[in-house]
Amino acid sequence: MESSETRPSEAVSSKTHTENLIATLPTREGWSTPLLLYNNCWIRPHCLNDAMAVQDKLKPSPDDIILAAHPKCGTTWLKALLFTVLNRSRYTFADHPLLTVGPHQLVPFVALLPGDLDRAEMLPSPRLLSTHLPLPLLPPAVSTLGCRIVCVCREPKDAFLSRWHFEKKLHQGISLGMDEAFAMFSEGCTPYDPFWDRYLEYWKESLARPREVMFLRYEEIMSDTPKVIRKLASFLGVPFTREEESGGVVEQVADLCGFTSLSSVDPNRADRVEVEHAGVKLVVNPSSLFRKGEVGDWVNHMSKDMAARMGQLVAEKFKGSGLTF
Ligand code: A3P
Repeated sequence: MESSETRPSEAVSSKTHTENLIATLPTREGWSTPLLLYNNCWIRPHCLNDAMAVQDKLKPSPDDIILAAHPKCGTTWLKALLFTVLNRSRYTFADHPLLTVGPHQLVPFVALLPGDLDRAEMLPSPRLLSTHLPLPLLPPAVSTLGCRIVCVCREPKDAFLSRWHFEKKLHQGISLGMDEAFAMFSEGCTPYDPFWDRYLEYWKESLARPREVMFLRYEEIMSDTPKVIRKLASFLGVPFTREEESGGVVEQVADLCGFTSLSSVDPNRADRVEVEHAGVKLVVNPSSLFRKGEVGDWVNHMSKDMAARMGQLVAEKFKGSGLTF
């Protein structure tokens, strides 16, 4: 999920430190707002303050669970799945919060949605948090304390396509053509990218600390959702009991959080929700988070040449890592 600014010139409300820093950062136009390169991560100006504040303000606790989802890779889906798995003894499926509230309201989005960093601080433990931030931008205590991290990535062509449609819907006046957007994506110049660095940072951490870091792909969740739900529950130390298994709870979680169910719930169908943070008006668009929810849709939109170029880039960037697409 991302939000768009309505007043770019006021994107960063706090003057002094941030403004001075911004002046020194490489910047790129092209996407709907300028992007700034902050510690090898392209970021929108209005997210920079919180991204910088995370190091000081987010006080990790060993029982924190952090969803580190790359944009357009299934953040919304994973938020719903994790929330439902973790809170399954508190709510019935007939009267579940996800039927009345969007996943992004249930799980704070650290360094993205206004006020969510503060909201995270007020949550009781164990906290479920989410972020698009790279691992190196999270406080080191997240790793040293052994917080559980669930990361999710997606086949890059589908991730690009999803991004492209999302940008067009979120920012109606965007002038960036698909070819130009693809070129920027391939350069690693898309919000929170380069995607290969993001994927690899979390991938390597999951290999080094498999008990604490779980690496998922959108495609595997899609191919066998109940299997991934069981995997998540075990990883988080709350495996399904025999009674839950025989009562079909796993399948109920999958259905509740599935594309058809989530995309038809009223709060997720809204086209325009305005929020204000530190004098900056932001527009969020819940319905733009649900497009098709399919694997391989790139084939309907991208040329063979684009696909071949992305294949080559992916082979180069992930060579020797064990991560393949
Ligand atoms: P598409 O644009 O390919 O349809 P994010 O939540 O990280 O922004 O990712 C958005 C992508 O996830 C979109 O992909 C969206 O349709 C898909 N998505 C959202 N909810 C989903 C769900 N419950 N199941 C499967 N896919 C989902």
